[in-house]
Amino acid sequence: MRPVGIRTARLVLDLPVPADADLVTRYCQDPLFEQYLTTPWPYSRADAHAFLGEHVPESWASGRELTWALRRVEGGPLLGVISVRDPKRELGFWMGAENRGLGLMSEAATAVVEWTLGGGIRGATTVFWRAVEGNVASASVARAAGFRRIEPADATVPTRDGTGTLPAWHAVREASVDPRARASWDAVLATRRAVRPR
Ligand SMILES: CC(C)(COP(=O)(O)OP(=O)(O)OC[C@H]1O[C@@H](n2cnc3c(N)ncnc32)[C@H](O)[C@@H]1OP(=O)(O)O)[C@@H](O)C(=O)NCCC(=O)NCCS
Repeated sequence: MRPVGIRTARLVLDLPVPADADLVTRYCQDPLFEQYLTTPWPYSRADAHAFLGEHVPESWASGRELTWALRRVEGGPLLGVISVRDPKRELGFWMGAENRGLGLMSEAATAVVEWTLGGGIRGATTVFWRAVEGNVASASVARAAGFRRIEPADATVPTRDGTGTLPAWHAVREASVDPRARASWDAVLATRRAVRPR
């Protein structure tokens, strides 16, 4: 498959390229990545080069994983990364620490899911998401993108070395947002309360 760009109100989603290696190397030093992702740890510049120069283009070509860079403008600095991966169309993402908290990953996740389910990936009717239990920021992105939390029999994710599993949260999104989606998160995420003037 040839790389496809996606635009949102505030972002351009396009191909991560070797010129992004410095930023990717820097962002991937974040201790949260060791806890929540399976990116190499410790993360080196060679890892960034392998990711950008080999993994990203090869996985677009095979269609196994479609990976986008989040940027404010075309050709601008990479802010974070989002992907959809086979075999289950699983959404994965990370944002460079200094770019968090602006709603940008929620915006990107919504756009990628809508693109995928709107015919971007032929035949795709569901997108899955999962995260290590307790990853509230990731779950909040999934909630904002319309995912519904599910409780499969095997509610785990593999550990980064693949030898074990960790308890995990799972969720699914279909083309139209399930009316139960928002409430499905209530057991694990705080609901926003109306601010009352004192
Ligand atoms: C998860 C991550 C991508 C979120 O990026 P972001 O750009 O901050 O996301 P947004 O700004 O769109 O915020 C989305 C929601 O997360 C909440 N959030 C963000 N950071 C948070 C934190 N540290 N703790 C709790 N909630 C947080 C926001 O308040 C927002 O919630 P809302 O929709 O209820 O308002 C980012 O924290 C990250 O890269 N984490 C490390 C990597 C990771 O865990 N990736 C996911 C693996 S499954």
